[in-house]
Amino acid sequence: MSAPRQNWQSKLGFILAASGSAIGLGNIVFFSSNAYQYGGGAFYVPYFVALFVLGMPIMMVEFGIGTLTQKSFPMALSRLAGRRGEFVGWWSIGSALFITMYYIAILGWALGMMIGAFGSLFEPGVSAPFAPFAEPTPEPNATVYFFNLISTWNPLVYIIIIWLVNLFILRQGTHTIEKAVRIFVPLMWLFMVILAIRGLTLPGGFDGVMYLFTPAMDGIKEPTVWKGAFSQMFFSLSLGLGTMTAYASYLPKDADQVNNSMLVSFLNCSFEFLAGLAIFSLLFVFALNPAGTTLSLSFFVIPQGINELSAVPWIVRLFGFLFYLLVVLAGITSSISLIEAPASALIDKFRISRRRALALIAIPCVVGSCLFALPQIIDPGLSGDGTLGLTLLDITDHWVFNYSLLTVGFLEVLMIGWVFGAGKLRAALNENAHIKLGGWFEVLIRYLLPVILLVVIVTSLMQEWPLYGSTYDMPGYGWLTIFIPVFWLAFTLLFALYITRAKTKEA
Ligand code: TRP
Repeated sequence: MSAPRQNWQSKLGFILAASGSAIGLGNIVFFSSNAYQYGGGAFYVPYFVALFVLGMPIMMVEFGIGTLTQKSFPMALSRLAGRRGEFVGWWSIGSALFITMYYIAILGWALGMMIGAFGSLFEPGVSAPFAPFAEPTPEPNATVYFFNLISTWNPLVYIIIIWLVNLFILRQGTHTIEKAVRIFVPLMWLFMVILAIRGLTLPGGFDGVMYLFTPAMDGIKEPTVWKGAFSQMFFSLSLGLGTMTAYASYLPKDADQVNNSMLVSFLNCSFEFLAGLAIFSLLFVFALNPAGTTLSLSFFVIPQGINELSAVPWIVRLFGFLFYLLVVLAGITSSISLIEAPASALIDKFRISRRRALALIAIPCVVGSCLFALPQIIDPGLSGDGTLGLTLLDITDHWVFNYSLLTVGFLEVLMIGWVFGAGKLRAALNENAHIKLGGWFEVLIRYLLPVILLVVIVTSLMQEWPLYGSTYDMPGYGWLTIFIPVFWLAFTLLFALYITRAKTKEA
């Protein structure tokens, strides 16, 4: 006999957990750098289309199938769409493992920076990156601090701490998750509001906001802007990896998932908006340029801005500390959901204990996270990312972030739209919904979304040449640019095949 399925204690607990999952590095780190990279206001039209046409409806699907079947993603798809559905589910879980590994590595660095706020991060005179290659610079320099951090073994300790915190929060499932999100989620809102107010009250802070929020129409013509907005929306709303389905499966069957999807999307995008206010005001006041890799924004451009917030050292330190604490808190409420997706899937399929499922995931994934922190310097000129770990992370992120979420989205709307039936899902959602979904929902799921997603995936694949990362100057490591995507695909496909074919242990 296995234990009865766990449940959220309250609707609030679920909303906090699901919005905590959605709000994370995606809203703070990736949103600003994507919005900037894709042209500030030019990002907005694709962004809102992505929110209403893609994000909310797919969240309704992912929430809906969770409550309908009371199962996590692969088993829910298995029940609704058979073996092929289950395969898609496990394939997405395979990619969730990759994202978890590097997501936690980034959180480890954020923890390192948080500690650095009280160490030498905001002190003048740290020496230049990769001391053997360059002259020390006398300036306070967050870039230098960050590269010095990642070119040592210290982040391994931080990564392991973040993993332990995650496992601790997940140890009793919804029960302990709910306890953590009740504290973490309100705190991260509070800190973000403080940062946004500080940013906006800086002289000139408003100009950055204008840059970000004045819609420009030129983005509409660019396929890459659309791809950027779509992947960003999927990632930000935690779609395409089974997390939302896992969380929704712990709700009673009569939950109003249309309403919940709108609420969670709204909370997520409001937070993103606030983060945009805070970060863009800072960037503009201090004329900082967030170009470079996605991570550069959070790890050296923002701290540089924070450094100039005040002439009083302890205020600078306090803001620096708050910013990284915010990143860590928001990140942990997301990483627990990334781990919960595979954990609940393994528990559903094999009826193993939670402890065992968590161990099966954590042991290989902790090793994986540590690989992303390998400090060997392979690109001293920093034309790419410098260290071996950061290069691995950058290339892995490129493939998994851009392709797995959208591909899972594409396959999942096909499964639900055509195999299970969009009409049946609409009826199930409407049964408990205040606002009923019209026939448009079926058209969206069956025709529009598969076509849009396919076009976006294919056009961006066609632009893939030269392979991402192959322009970096990293003698001896060029093979990584081919090895990483091949390894990711081979691993996730074999993993999905193997688990789908394994026998499901019935309750
Ligand atoms: N949404 C989170 C963020 O914005 C990250 C995340 C959690 C996620 N679970 C996910 C992304 C599932 C994709 C799929 O940081």
